[in-house]
Amino acid sequence: MFPRSGYSTGNGYAMKNSKPILDVKDLCKFFPIKSQGFFRKTIGWIRATDHVSFKLYRNEILGLVGESGCGKSTTTRTVLRALEPTSGSILFQTPEGRVDLANLTDRELRPIRKYMQMIFQDPFSSLNPRMTVGEIVSEPLKIHNLAQGTEISRRVDEMLLKVGLKPEHKQRYPHAFSGGQRQRIGIARALIMRPQFVVADEAVSA
Ligand SMILES: Nc1ncnc2c1ncn2[C@@H]1O[C@H](COP(=O)(O)OP(=O)(O)OP(=O)(O)O)[C@@H](O)[C@H]1O
Ligand SMILES: [Mg+2]
Repeated sequence: MFPRSGYSTGNGYAMKNSKPILDVKDLCKFFPIKSQGFFRKTIGWIRATDHVSFKLYRNEILGLVGESGCGKSTTTRTVLRALEPTSGSILFQTPEGRVDLANLTDRELRPIRKYMQMIFQDPFSSLNPRMTVGEIVSEPLKIHNLAQGTEISRRVDEMLLKVGLKPEHKQRYPHAFSGGQRQRIGIARALIMRPQFVVADEAVSA
């Protein structure tokens, strides 16, 4: 059910001495299979993520590889708590301390979400077409109240340059960019939060 062939790269210098940023143990996410009819009884389970364990260290890149439908997206979405885990633990090292993402309520998760960001495979559907690039990239900073005033535009400019776009692109709308540039807008939006880790589903699809 899950890719056996994973690989992990990274400079590794921090691996022996420090705690992992992410320590996932025996994570399961099962989807119920419901019967037809009025009562919609659960008649089985799709074991999309079945006892998955891995560790992720600072400066490390971890790839999940496997055939279509084997559970890669389900695993990452469960780690990010976009899906409720069925069982298992997701220990996450935040700047404020270690938490188990699997046990937190939505309310408790809210201040932690800024530390984990997702980059979408289809940037066009995830970028609001009515917002300028400047608004899109700065929005998470404003939502989480992480910067004010000129600091916001300074960080947006810095991030656009970092992902290979230009500060003058701030006034433009997503439709005026190429597919690859749009993906960079999404990357800028994720990285401006200075997250502890970033998840890219279908990283090699665009
Ligand atoms: N919300 C859901 N309800 C029921 N079953 C689901 C749900 N989401 C995913 N599944 C099932 O879980 C399994 C894993 O799906 P998942 O999307 O995680 O695969 P994947 O490895 O990301 O595949 P791909 O490489 O095609 O993106 C599949 O059998 C899928 O049909
Ligand atoms: Mg997938």
